Amino acid sequence: MKNIALIGYGVVGHGVADLLSKNADIIAKRAGDQIRLKHILTARPRADDPRQELLTQNADDIFGDCGVSVVVECINDLDAAYRYCRRSLSAGKHYVTSNKNLIATYGVELTELAARNSVALMFEASVAAGIPVLRPLCKCLSSNRVTGVMGIVNGTTNYILTQMKREGRAFDDALRDAQRLGYAETDPSADVLGFDACRKLAILLSIAFDRYVRYKEIPAEGITAVTSADITLAERLGYSMKLIAMGRLTPSDRIYARVSPLLIPHDHLLASVDDVFNAVAVSADTAGDVLFYGRGAGAEPSASSIVGDVIDIVTSGRYNDPVWREDYRPLLPADENVGPLFVRASLPEREKLLQLFPEGIAAAEGENLGFITTPGLERKLREDIQAAGIETGAIWRVFSRAEDDA
Ligand code: HSE
Repeated sequence: MKNIALIGYGVVGHGVADLLSKNADIIAKRAGDQIRLKHILTARPRADDPRQELLTQNADDIFGDCGVSVVVECINDLDAAYRYCRRSLSAGKHYVTSNKNLIATYGVELTELAARNSVALMFEASVAAGIPVLRPLCKCLSSNRVTGVMGIVNGTTNYILTQMKREGRAFDDALRDAQRLGYAETDPSADVLGFDACRKLAILLSIAFDRYVRYKEIPAEGITAVTSADITLAERLGYSMKLIAMGRLTPSDRIYARVSPLLIPHDHLLASVDDVFNAVAVSADTAGDVLFYGRGAGAEPSASSIVGDVIDIVTSGRYNDPVWREDYRPLLPADENVGPLFVRASLPEREKLLQLFPEGIAAAEGENLGFITTPGLERKLREDIQAAGIETGAIWRVFSRAEDDA
């Protein structure tokens, strides 16, 4: 019998407890032992909770129990998670977390601490919830030199953009739904402003490139300024609007990374990743392009990855992931990329745009014009548009194979 403890009993914590009961037989078979949930730390224990006898408000019940070998944490609070994680690893207890903020912020320190104490620190659920992507990146692709990662890693924003496109729903209305469904962060500005995606991208890139990437340095542009007109015009022009997290390693060993809305051509695999689904495409020198796809938020997908981590710990005893290296080099600026831009403007701007980009393509919707420029260095394109006195309603990046390959 292996005893585990759960810290945090919100949407994801409930998902973990439910999964441990629902699939107890299969989990025991795969783990080679029964996994028993012994304590649940929660700030708000409910008197009518069916797991009443497991609930505690005192962390000492967990850390003082030498029978507990694995601590599972699913809370949002960064400082509290940091304290629990340090305490757990220092006490020789393995730690499983879905907290991307914790890993993106303290990954270097905590992976070192875990290694020093010969315990596991696992966080598969921290990126793209139910999609197994970190372990495959660490393990199955470990013989490859990874050159790029690009994906949709925030379920809330993907859900909102899909609802705006498909149902013509307003942004706020779709966001409320994402909150109700348990996809959004406690403070959903982390989702809609792109910070949640930055944290996940930083984790992915730190693993992919063997070099700690500071998430705060990744330029983030969220979806709050994306309008229904942008989405409709993009669709007319043959593109889907997505919040894309991407990073690549340049031939000179520099990292370019950013999170921003991007127009993705309809024939690109990521264009059809809708609703709460996430997808991560990895470019590797030997395996080639590899795509991971699945549910990126919600109780059950997160629980799936968390309990998978627990089983891995129980079966392997320890998890020998690489310790993250702090090897600081500034990221390349966000406008250092090559590709076309999408411009929303009023119809009368069409001539000026065509003068500047004679091979650009245009579509109209009411009073709005959507225009795709010819590819170029983003910084230069923006300067040219401004110098030509074109009044723009919005400018968004457009996916370009050239950028992908750069
Ligand atoms: N708020 C996150 C999302 C939850 O929408 O993707 C999963 O990390």
